[in-house]
Amino acid sequence: MSVIAAVGLQWGDEGKGKVIDILSEFASMVVRYAGGNNAGHTIKVGEKKLVLGLLPSGILRPSCQCMLGGGMVIDPNVFLEETARVRELGVKVDSDRVAVAKSAFVVLPIHRAVDELLEESIMKEGIGTTRRGIGPAYQDKIGRRGLRMFEIASDRDRLRRKIEAIHDFWEPLFTRERKTPPAVGETMENLLRVREELVPFLKDTVVLLREEIRKRSRILLEGAQGTLLDIDHGTYPFVTSSSASIAGAISGTGIGPGAIEAVIGICKAYSTRVGSGPFPTEADPDTAARIRDIGGEYGSTTGRPRRCGWLDLPALRRSALINGVSMLGLTKLDVLSGMGEIPVCVGYEVDGEITEDFPLYDLERAIPVYEKWPGWDDNISDVREAADLPPNVRRYIQNIELKTQLPVALISVGPGRNETIMIRNPFR
Ligand code: IMP
Repeated sequence: MSVIAAVGLQWGDEGKGKVIDILSEFASMVVRYAGGNNAGHTIKVGEKKLVLGLLPSGILRPSCQCMLGGGMVIDPNVFLEETARVRELGVKVDSDRVAVAKSAFVVLPIHRAVDELLEESIMKEGIGTTRRGIGPAYQDKIGRRGLRMFEIASDRDRLRRKIEAIHDFWEPLFTRERKTPPAVGETMENLLRVREELVPFLKDTVVLLREEIRKRSRILLEGAQGTLLDIDHGTYPFVTSSSASIAGAISGTGIGPGAIEAVIGICKAYSTRVGSGPFPTEADPDTAARIRDIGGEYGSTTGRPRRCGWLDLPALRRSALINGVSMLGLTKLDVLSGMGEIPVCVGYEVDGEITEDFPLYDLERAIPVYEKWPGWDDNISDVREAADLPPNVRRYIQNIELKTQLPVALISVGPGRNETIMIRNPFR
């Protein structure tokens, strides 16, 4: 296998960062394809915990080249801060190793301010965004007035005109709300200050990738967020503004669909979501708090407590279909130890009818149908072979395989790199 994609199947936070860190040992390049620093991929190496918002999780493998794809929106300051933070760990992070797509779009201070304004005062029901300016930056992209990364290198007047046009578009919103928008001058000054450091990273990544594919290099495409937050396939409008699903791996890198040889769908052994929006399998507050505590379910970048609940198989099957998933990466299985019988949603009742499909358009009226699967009390974090897992854990996994018709290729039983059971290496 030379190109594989790792895609989140739930509402993000499936543990993609760790899985990608594991798989990147076998890859020569990791390419992040969508989103921005709304993502927070947590990786634990030894006692060190690293949270990455923009850099692909392969950055900690010295042999791995990293790329930030054109489907991303990038805050230049956050990118440079993150590269500095990783460099402090003794990791080489320079333009020989890290490429940023010239075509990616820039997140500007005004985007962050608009995100804040929309959430705080304008929208009646906030989305609960990360307030990192992601939605407004993508709005500018689709509105054909966005600033692309390569344009940061343009001459001063041209750059200023582009930024002014973006400000002109958004400023009436600030006037209406009697708020002061960020100043064009400060945005300009900042971009001029950082561009010398930034520009060497900017590349035509489509050309770079074409070379890597020709050489049959092993490339890992890294998604951010999850399919249920995808702008097209998620629980709209409570979604992010990018293509978190496999479609984004194609448009956000420029790799043709035929080149992707396997898609590993990452899902947690239970469900979480952060921010507003429907979450049919959300547990009662006490149980949710218990899962949250054991699983450390707090936003890695925002610190927000995540809503917690049970595995939703109809949603998983829908996400698997949308992404053409060929195998599953099942994470945080250890968190379910000691939960007693584990409810798992196997279908829905909508207006008295039972369906095994995820009722995306009827979620307000849909009642989950649960099966209770036998639980286990054992601590499984030391287990390294699937065969050594306690019988009820193996049953839990087999039931998921049966109900999704997909093999589980990798199981994560703890945050550490070694707390992983690799059943089948997707690259082999
Ligand atoms: P935005 O991406 O900041 O615009 O936020 C839109 C929605 O996506 C909100 O519900 C966020 O909480 C959610 N979201 C964005 N990024 C992530 C992520 O990496 N993990 C989980 N939820 C996310």
